[in-house]
Amino acid sequence: MSKQVLIAYGTRFGSTEEISIKFQQILEENGFAVELIDLKAKKKGKPNITNYIGVLIGSGIRITRWTKEAKNFLKNNIKTINENKILVGIYLSSGEASDPDKRPAIIEKYLVKVFEELGLNLGDNVLYDAFGGVFDLSKTTNLSWINRKMLNTAADEDPNIVRNERRDYRDWDQINKFIEDFIRKLE
Ligand SMILES: Cc1cc2nc3c(=O)[nH]c(=O)nc-3n(C[C@H](O)[C@H](O)[C@H](O)COP(=O)(O)O)c2cc1C
Repeated sequence: MSKQVLIAYGTRFGSTEEISIKFQQILEENGFAVELIDLKAKKKGKPNITNYIGVLIGSGIRITRWTKEAKNFLKNNIKTINENKILVGIYLSSGEASDPDKRPAIIEKYLVKVFEELGLNLGDNVLYDAFGGVFDLSKTTNLSWINRKMLNTAADEDPNIVRNERRDYRDWDQINKFIEDFIRKLE
């Protein structure tokens, strides 16, 4: 009970979910109990974050936006996080963060700006990072027609997006480092 960690994520195509499941696995290997919540699936009753020694909140990005469920979850808990200095790790899976050189600007755009907008105080208790994304234009893609069409159009401009192929730009060393830093703060 005392070593319980919450992972709450919003995903559209599964990339953030895979990262979140990896976090769960690593936390459990380190002796923590994990509650993993898909915020888009869970219909009623959001968890009380004061029941956990640490909270991870993840979101994918589509057309420059977090999933509304993840953003709302953070928004609704800002006061509790600020007042109780609850340890939170906030992470994104973002196509634009796939290029390491662009990552600092993406962190600014999709994390720091959102924190400012929502009023999150950035103290020692807040970790955040933006991971790369998955662009799946393969035959087995789970993207809807409209999402495929948008990605195919974007492929004209962005060499990371390749027609008829699946490209996974998540850097698992970066992702592992993030969770290791989070665990260090938990202990
Ligand atoms: C239609 C579409 C629009 C996207 N728009 C953006 C965008 O504006 N910025 C960005 O960084 N990534 C964008 N991406 C890439 C996603 O961030 C990437 O696929 C990510 O892995 C999605 O995470 P999820 O599967 O957890 O939702 C877009 C992807 C699709 C399919």
